[in-house]
Amino acid sequence: MLEIERASKTFRVGADTVTAVRDVSLSLAKGDFLTIIGSNGAGKSTLLNLISGVVPLTSGRIFLEGDDVTNEPAYRRARRVSWILQNPLAGTAPSMSVLENLAFASSRGTRSLRPALSRARRRDLLARLEGLGVGLERRSACRVALLSGGERQALAVLMATLVRPRVLLLDEHTAALDPRNAELITRVTCDFVRSLELTTLMVTHNMAQALEVGNRLVMMHRGEVLHELADEQKRRATVPELVRFFAHREVADDRLLLDAEDEERACPAPTASD
Ligand SMILES: Nc1ncnc2c1ncn2[C@@H]1O[C@H](COP(=O)(O)OP(=O)(O)O)[C@@H](O)[C@H]1O
Ligand SMILES: [Mg+2]
Repeated sequence: MLEIERASKTFRVGADTVTAVRDVSLSLAKGDFLTIIGSNGAGKSTLLNLISGVVPLTSGRIFLEGDDVTNEPAYRRARRVSWILQNPLAGTAPSMSVLENLAFASSRGTRSLRPALSRARRRDLLARLEGLGVGLERRSACRVALLSGGERQALAVLMATLVRPRVLLLDEHTAALDPRNAELITRVTCDFVRSLELTTLMVTHNMAQALEVGNRLVMMHRGEVLHELADEQKRRATVPELVRFFAHREVADDRLLLDAEDEERACPAPTASD
């Protein structure tokens, strides 16, 4: 479904260069759900941006459903690749209503600038809003700017999946939310991923979340994939093991490791006597 072959990205910063992604190869089958963890600046967002086409590769190739999309512009790839970012406002038009945002999202990848909303389409969109289970169907005429962070991100998930993409990219899309909303959005996202069989890549700094969802996990550091866990191996892995692995590689990242400590306190690893 999605093949990344030796992808690299080097940015020029003044007289210097920064290699954000270095020789990364990944092969994802339809329905694979890969979580990505790594220290700050590890290249996680850049990797997703290479897949969406927002950032061009320096070298390497990307294949989507067998098509070489390496040089396909992002707007064209958007029919098959959707993404959601951390900031709930980034994926939506705040001054437009909930329903207008959805109408725009469903016309993405076409040339339509003023998407017409037939009665049937309107009913369909309202039913989808209701399906989110957060009461957004009652606020469909509301400007998105007035919604809570959780409501906006629920809308962003619906918008990203409306066009039935093949690949869904999630860049810390629950990081700005309180724990209750983060859990809600994670559940809504996982429901869509499962029902639409989306091939999904999710960046998170929350190690427990990275272990909880998806069937594969990669750990990134300095632009490289250090380690991959899949299926049974991933199901059995624990947060302390991930922390030890990063520590062993001398990854010193306060946010990543402190968050992991918090998670351990909230949910201690089973001991031998358990
Ligand atoms: N547009 C850009 N221009 C220059 N450097 C960038 C750009 N985007 C990312 N970088 C650099 O690439 C590295 C990886 O960044 P990023 O992919 O955002 O990391 P992560 O998402 O894992 O925190 C960092 O050193 C960052 O400063
Ligand atoms: Mg990032």
